[in-house]
Amino acid sequence: MANSIRRYEGRHAVITGGASGIGFAAAARIASEGGTVSLWDVDAGKIGEAKAALGASAHGFTLDVSDPDQVEQAAAETAKVFGKIDVLICSAGITGPNAKVADYPIDAWKRVLDINLNGLFYCNRFVVPIMQKNNYGRIVNVASIAGKEGNPNASAYSASKAAVIGLTKSLGKELVHDGITVNAITPATVETPILKQMQQFHIDYMLSKIPMQRFGKIEELASLITWIASEECSFTTGAVFDISGGRATY
Ligand SMILES: NC(=O)c1ccc[n+]([C@@H]2O[C@H](COP(=O)([O-])OP(=O)(O)OC[C@H]3O[C@@H](n4cnc5c(N)ncnc54)[C@H](O)[C@@H]3O)[C@@H](O)[C@H]2O)c1
Repeated sequence: MANSIRRYEGRHAVITGGASGIGFAAAARIASEGGTVSLWDVDAGKIGEAKAALGASAHGFTLDVSDPDQVEQAAAETAKVFGKIDVLICSAGITGPNAKVADYPIDAWKRVLDINLNGLFYCNRFVVPIMQKNNYGRIVNVASIAGKEGNPNASAYSASKAAVIGLTKSLGKELVHDGITVNAITPATVETPILKQMQQFHIDYMLSKIPMQRFGKIEELASLITWIASEECSFTTGAVFDISGGRATY
């Protein structure tokens, strides 16, 4: 889709989890504004559908972000093909099961932390040196309101997202002289395929906590993300952007 706003002309963006939901919406917006995008996702089928929808400006890379070797290779290959990485949006994530801490399956806990936190760390870790070569970069880490408030029956998810906020604040300060900003967003519930991973009672709980009494829309997420990831957002780093329909109180 053509767009008269062209903030991403000449820019290359990597979007993890870019084959679905929030990541896909951000990728579509960047492509519509003249950028090229690399979709890093574990789901090869969804990558194919996303590439077909976005056209020639989209490239796919099938990888599991929880494997540091795969992330290192993806970063190196992306830099080789496109010569640089200007933008990194880390949207890959899972919810894990809904259960109380005392019942939480240990394997599920480890998997949620491995994808949502460790995987995001690997992506930041291996893309930053590529951005430093050009003294330019915009990193947007997708956390969650769950990381600020803690949702009951979602301790692994809440803990992983709180840790993403901590990592973002830390890395933002490390890179203040490198032309690279690092920010996080903390959405309340957005209607995407991820909701299929949760039980209905939990989705109802999350909706009941949103004063606007509706879910966020992926277009609303894409709008915020693509402003933070643009050149225009230049004096904010290590920050946490609310997008929660009024739920967040800090
Ligand atoms: N939808 C919401 O309500 C909501 C709210 C707050 C935060 N978030 C966060 O937003 C991000 C995107 O979620 P979404 O709602 O778009 O969900 P989604 O399920 O539509 O998209 C997530 C994408 O991540 C990919 N992915 C999962 N595990 C992966 C792995 N190991 N390696 C590579 N890719 C992997 C999936 O294949 C999928 O394409 C997640 O981090 C999620 O926690 C979502």
